[in-house]
Amino acid sequence: MALNPPLPPWNECRIWVIGASTGIGAATAKALLNAGARVAISARKAAALAEVGEGNPRVLIEPLDFTDSAQVAAAWDRVRSAWGGIDLVLIVAGSHAEIRAWDLTEANAMALLKTNLHGVIGTVATVMPALLAQGKGALGIVASVAGYRGLPKALIYGASKAALINFTETLYLDLHPRGFGVYLINPGFVKTPLTDHNDFKMPHLISANQAATSLIEGLRAGEFEIAFPKAFTRQLKLLRLLPYRWYFALIHRATGL
Ligand SMILES: NC(=O)c1ccc[n+]([C@@H]2O[C@H](COP(=O)([O-])OP(=O)(O)OC[C@H]3O[C@@H](n4cnc5c(N)ncnc54)[C@H](OP(=O)(O)O)[C@@H]3O)[C@@H](O)[C@H]2O)c1
Repeated sequence: MALNPPLPPWNECRIWVIGASTGIGAATAKALLNAGARVAISARKAAALAEVGEGNPRVLIEPLDFTDSAQVAAAWDRVRSAWGGIDLVLIVAGSHAEIRAWDLTEANAMALLKTNLHGVIGTVATVMPALLAQGKGALGIVASVAGYRGLPKALIYGASKAALINFTETLYLDLHPRGFGVYLINPGFVKTPLTDHNDFKMPHLISANQAATSLIEGLRAGEFEIAFPKAFTRQLKLLRLLPYRWYFALIHRATGL
């Protein structure tokens, strides 16, 4: 049974995708435009956003840095006044840095948290009053399966995504009873500029277009957690159940780290 109220049909749906210049966000924005939705797209790289929009009359291009709440608030006002409201704010933006215990510095930790936590939570805080005032609408947040449990090389990335999973679960508990949709999106490995620098074999790697298809199917089905690809995410969910002794041994063996 769907955990979220249904979104309007795509040709009536107004969606703001933040983090839409490359990767999963760009592929999702294009797929939503192809499905007939009105889509506002944001990220810092304006030229890349223009390529994603391809002059589509249903696209609004709003370049911004989502760690700057004044920029987010100004774009939010413009998008709502252009459309008279909004059905879904989808926050895809995020960053990655490989950090192991011995690489940790306050600077590299805070830089990643600024994007992955400050950016996401600050944006939700900025849009919340007007969303509540609308009386309906939905929020979608892209976290990661890296937030399920500790993983080597993901010292701060994993912590930021675990925090986003908890944050989004709590948003659901607060907002669902008031009739709002809340979606938690947990991708496995997706081929994008973010993973292109990974020097290890990524299991169950999928393309950004495949990720977008799964994400959009999950939105349409009204799922709370949209995790993909299922063959990988089901294995990781089972690992969550293991006692620490077994979990640590298995991760050391599987990763060689
Ligand atoms: N790829 C994977 O395997 C994978 C797996 C699990 C979760 N994820 C998550 O999926 C999301 C998208 O990642 P991706 O793989 O598609 O990577 P990507 O291609 O690097 O996309 C990241 C997006 O975030 C935007 N962004 C970053 N910092 C921003 C800022 N300060 N303000 C506005 N926009 C900003 C980037 O645009 P600009 O640089 O133009 O600002 C870009 O559009 C991230 O949250 C990532 O953690 C990815």
